Amino acid sequence: MARVAIVTGGTRGIGRAICEALQADGMTVVANYAGNDDKARAFTEETGIVAYRWNVGDHAETLAGCAKVAEEVGPIDVLVNNAGITRDGTLMKMSYEDWTDVLRVNLGGCFNMAKACFDHMRDQKWGRIINIGSINGQAGQYGQVNYAAAKSGIHGFTKALAQEGARFGVTVNAIAPGYIDTDMVAAVPENVLEKIVARIPVGRLGQANEIARGVSFLASEDGGFVTGSTLSINGGQHMY
Ligand code: CAA
Repeated sequence: MARVAIVTGGTRGIGRAICEALQADGMTVVANYAGNDDKARAFTEETGIVAYRWNVGDHAETLAGCAKVAEEVGPIDVLVNNAGITRDGTLMKMSYEDWTDVLRVNLGGCFNMAKACFDHMRDQKWGRIINIGSINGQAGQYGQVNYAAAKSGIHGFTKALAQEGARFGVTVNAIAPGYIDTDMVAAVPENVLEKIVARIPVGRLGQANEIARGVSFLASEDGGFVTGSTLSINGGQHMY
């Protein structure tokens, strides 16, 4: 039986590339998305991957959504927490909603999805959870106290859950992408982005499939001894 994988925020950008990579690995892949029905329809037509709509930042919606996936496709063996939003601005300009929205979706979404998926993984003594963090959660970023805090939280969440999952054969890892050529990065003002790219040693933005390759490895049978780790894929922009 093919493993069932779910990728949150899976119909666009990095999420889409991850869906396609796991599908190529022979998994039965399901995408989750929150808002853009047109993009989701086009995604399903082009890839044959079913997309389910709910907001991962909402606990009850997430439990219900994952239960529906389990019933219609099968229980989830591989969880990729990729969904994320930005509400950039300096602290002085950032509203309380900008703060809570980003925390709720980017970090709360990981908790909600893990709650929905972990029991099955534990019971079958096999599971893979891969959380998409960020270089900006590792190094911070001007104008992103909300996003950096949420992504940094993901890295702590990963290490804590990895300790809980280990005895059940559930690995939990993170990938910390740098600046990848997606709609999210395209929204950064051009003059600001130019300065950022100038600080990337390989001299370019990353491609979504360069993140997906890392997820593919962490989700594989061969990844069984890797847990609690963070794989940085950032063109050398942040090394530590
Ligand atoms: N360090 C120090 N000072 C900085 C700075 C930095 N990195 N960036 C800007 N400043 C300074 C500016 O020089 C300016 O100072 P002066 O007025 O004295 O010249 C001041 O801060 C205000 O800068 P802006 O004009 O840019 O301010 P703004 O309010 O118009 O915009 C901002 C602020 C929204 C944060 C904007 O700078 C921005 O969008 N920055 C990019 C944030 C970013 O990298 N987001 C990543 C999105 S992609 C992503 O998140 C994916 C991922 O995981 C990597």
